[in-house]
Amino acid sequence: MRNQTDLDRRAGSTVRPLALNVVAGGAGFIGSHLCRALLDRGESVLCLDNLQTARPSNLRALEGQPRFRFLRHDISHPLPPELLRLAPRITRVWNLACPASPPLYQRDPEHTMLTNVLGTNHLLRLAETAKARFLLTSTSEVYGDPEIHPQAEDYRGHVSCTGPRACYDEGKRAAETLAFDYARAGRAAVRVARIFNTYGPNMDPNDGRVVSNLICQALRGDELTVYGDGSQTRSFCYVSDMVAGLMALMEADIEGTQPVNLGNPAEMTVNELLGHVVALTGTRAPVVHRPLPTDDPRRRRPDISRARALLDWAPQVPLAQGLEATCAWFAAELAAEPAAAGAAG
Ligand SMILES: NC(=O)c1ccc[n+]([C@@H]2O[C@H](COP(=O)([O-])OP(=O)(O)OC[C@H]3O[C@@H](n4cnc5c(N)ncnc54)[C@H](O)[C@@H]3O)[C@@H](O)[C@H]2O)c1
Repeated sequence: MRNQTDLDRRAGSTVRPLALNVVAGGAGFIGSHLCRALLDRGESVLCLDNLQTARPSNLRALEGQPRFRFLRHDISHPLPPELLRLAPRITRVWNLACPASPPLYQRDPEHTMLTNVLGTNHLLRLAETAKARFLLTSTSEVYGDPEIHPQAEDYRGHVSCTGPRACYDEGKRAAETLAFDYARAGRAAVRVARIFNTYGPNMDPNDGRVVSNLICQALRGDELTVYGDGSQTRSFCYVSDMVAGLMALMEADIEGTQPVNLGNPAEMTVNELLGHVVALTGTRAPVVHRPLPTDDPRRRRPDISRARALLDWAPQVPLAQGLEATCAWFAAELAAEPAAAGAAG
């Protein structure tokens, strides 16, 4: 059996000029930023996406770029032969394909589970055939509603396997299991990132995540929705920091059977986030409280000691700066909405 160091060497430990990256989920929020960053580094990108939660404008912005190619495909189905034929050129396989927003991943829970389990297996097999490195974007949701705070990677979690969020939480846990089994068996060099709440431009204004929800409601002058009393905490990482962390993890020469938390350890309550959004947008809209969703975690804060030690990585963008850029981006998006709707009509 090969060890991880051999596998890493075989997969290439430095950036190769003609590297072909397969980015599953590359038309989504984080994936579109990752594709852009890889292209900016001079590499080629093949984006694989079924467009289920992708924003068409994310894809349009990438499609004109040299060295970018798009293939519409659902990763829960066997990979298309045209992709398999490219295996000799593929050096990196990134799996970001999965809806991240609770209302969207709960819309078809069976498909969410299969995306995570079958989809991850298809991409791991591709990495094995191509002798490429594989990175899975897992999630802080593998910790569930945590009893330990902050959450470090050795915490095994407090997750419901029967609730409405299980298709995602347990799907990601199973995807991690598969990735580490491939690594232990010497079949692929793997990296697993456990992503905590990430925000920024290219998010879907209507996907129901707390940052996009509050900013868009404020910009539209709608009521501001807070679930529960707003005392639950979250930690928000700006998307450029997240992409830098993912790229550092993929390229790091580390022992591949350990997951790495990526997120911003600055923790705040949802009410504090609301205060920032109100101050930034000047909205006077009332706040309405709705019941907390089932199994909603009460606290979230990453322990990023491992990422600091292994990757020399930590978030750089302060919340005020990231929120300002995100607000400006959403303002432009929402301003374009009626024109786009009119044009479509
Ligand atoms: N954004 C966050 O805060 C966050 C937090 C934790 C984990 N993550 C993980 O990071 C990844 C990217 O998240 P995001 O916020 O960009 O989500 P997103 O929904 O914006 O992007 C996901 C992309 O995957 C595509 N996709 C979904 N199912 C697919 C399938 N079966 N086959 C092919 N494509 C498929 C979607 O069309 C979309 O383009 C996800 O795996 C998510 O679980 C994100």
